[in-house]
Amino acid sequence: MQTLEEFKQTAAELSTTTNLGNTEQQIKTDPLQFLVDYIQLGLKAPYAVAVITGALGNLEPFGSNTHDILGPIHGAIVVEEMGMESQNFWDTHPVLARMLVEETAAFFGRSVPEPTTAAKKWAQSFFDFYSGAGTDLSDPNCAAVVLGAHAGSEFTAIKEFSIVSGLLAMHHPDLYHHLEETPLAKFPGITAITWLSCHGGEDGVENIHANFALEAAAEVIKTPELLRSWEAGFKGIVTVLNGFFTWVEPAVALRLSSTLQHVP
Ligand SMILES: [Fe+2]
Ligand SMILES: [Fe+2]
Repeated sequence: MQTLEEFKQTAAELSTTTNLGNTEQQIKTDPLQFLVDYIQLGLKAPYAVAVITGALGNLEPFGSNTHDILGPIHGAIVVEEMGMESQNFWDTHPVLARMLVEETAAFFGRSVPEPTTAAKKWAQSFFDFYSGAGTDLSDPNCAAVVLGAHAGSEFTAIKEFSIVSGLLAMHHPDLYHHLEETPLAKFPGITAITWLSCHGGEDGVENIHANFALEAAAEVIKTPELLRSWEAGFKGIVTVLNGFFTWVEPAVALRLSSTLQHVP
């Protein structure tokens, strides 16, 4: 079956998310609302990783050593994102995300708005697909779909964060500069831009996560059938994420999600 190198190749081919649709317009018109909506995804993703790690470890779809294979890989992401073993509660990504929007709101003299209904629906759709909600995760094919979705989301995130950061800097240079220069009141070693700047690009944490996801795949995706399921999960999450960024009707992704429950 595919080696780690071959999985890298497959992932590069499948991760096509450069179409961020209406995102530029959203960022131009209301960067605060966009960021509030965008962090909805950012808050769901580590939660979904935690859920699938726990579920697959218990259900052992790839045999009795499933937990040993996936535990360290997913555990590293969960600890980093959610700070479960962190000495400092503030040193976690969800908190940094919240602080980014609070500082952005302060810059505009506004309070932090509620996320839009569409963003909340998309985040839920993303979470449901990603965590294999409603599927039998003891079935190796369903488990392969969620591992593919995990990998797809990490690869998409590498590009997404870079593009969002770039658009924000381009359309709101004063805000961007302010976020880069402003240390967080509750965590003075870190500036307000950190949540955006630490994720994207070659050196970002998403790149590290993406490699973990491929290591997991190379360990457990051992048949052509499982590879098809893994690829379907990868493509599925890319479609869900493209939907978020193009702001099409969330029902499209929900239908897709229910279809893929029966892959292959
Ligand atoms: Fe994060
Ligand atoms: Fe990630």
